[in-house]
Amino acid sequence: MNLTDLNKVALAMVTAGKGILAADESTGTIKKRFDAISVESTEQSRRDYREMLFRSGEAMAKYISGVILYDETIWQNAKDGTPLVKLIEQAGAIPGIKVDEGTQALPNCPGELVTVGLDKLAERLKKYYERGARFAKWRAVIDIGRGTAGGGTVGRDIPTMTAIHVNAHALARYAALCQAAQIVPIVEPEVLMDGDHDIERCYEVTQHVLNNTFQELRIQRVALEGMILKPNMAIAGKKSAKQASVEEVAEKTIRLLKSCVPAAVPGIAFLSGGQSDEQATAHLDAMNRIGGLPWRLTFSYGRALQAAPQKAWSGKAENVAAGQRAFIHRARMNSLATKGEWKADLEKKAA
Ligand code: 13P
Repeated sequence: MNLTDLNKVALAMVTAGKGILAADESTGTIKKRFDAISVESTEQSRRDYREMLFRSGEAMAKYISGVILYDETIWQNAKDGTPLVKLIEQAGAIPGIKVDEGTQALPNCPGELVTVGLDKLAERLKKYYERGARFAKWRAVIDIGRGTAGGGTVGRDIPTMTAIHVNAHALARYAALCQAAQIVPIVEPEVLMDGDHDIERCYEVTQHVLNNTFQELRIQRVALEGMILKPNMAIAGKKSAKQASVEEVAEKTIRLLKSCVPAAVPGIAFLSGGQSDEQATAHLDAMNRIGGLPWRLTFSYGRALQAAPQKAWSGKAENVAAGQRAFIHRARMNSLATKGEWKADLEKKAA
């Protein structure tokens, strides 16, 4: 492992004014997104859509540091035969790859999941590196709610310590394998915002999850200087009647990260997790206004960057320019947020 080079890539991923485009939806997930805009999901439509994003000149050159790809995409070529990975590199961004293979039910923990994909990961990483990937992603999913652990309706709340522990262990196994393959791991322990819990409960669960994750990373000797953390924000569940203000989300998220994330980590790139486009931008902006942090704070958004371009495109070749404009706009808004320079009225002017 060459830690100096890993650190250089990690720093480039969180460079000021830039963030990561998470375009790594699995075939099942992208089908759901395409269903919502009435587009048939085929190998070609998925390619056309992603090619549209990667050819959004201004967004890719000025606001996007790296792109997370799905296995299918990393091997695909653009319509003119250029590998999509090359389009990303030519735009000045770094190609990355999602390497987890999704989730499975966790035995003995009803309702909870463990992320899988460690088998043969070392060999897969080698092939991805040869294709141009310089960073990778692995997402663990932690749900908050009323569990039925033990069966029946009396069960314990989730997450259980079991789910937190096995997922943290797998994240660290993945991260160590990535670094051995000279690939920067994005470590993503996502606490979902799907429930009706308040921000305090999210804070408490995320704290357990992050503490466990960093403990496992230390045990497995992962070099913190050569990784990026991709966490959720401290935020109320979508179904909670008690939604927190932008300032409260920012203040609590910063407090939480300061207490759990070592300063040796070069950067933190948030997931959007189902927040609206504008919310995700406003929260990132408010955090960067607080300032004085040991790590760079940026975005690694999927839905919050792509919902608008997907809608504008709607699968029609004549809408490609409109789709690209929508993507450039969201990327620019989030770029401003990485510097604490976003303003709500910039959204209205664009509308
Ligand atoms: P969202 O921003 O849509 O949560 O996706 C980011 C991601 O990569 C989840 O793994």
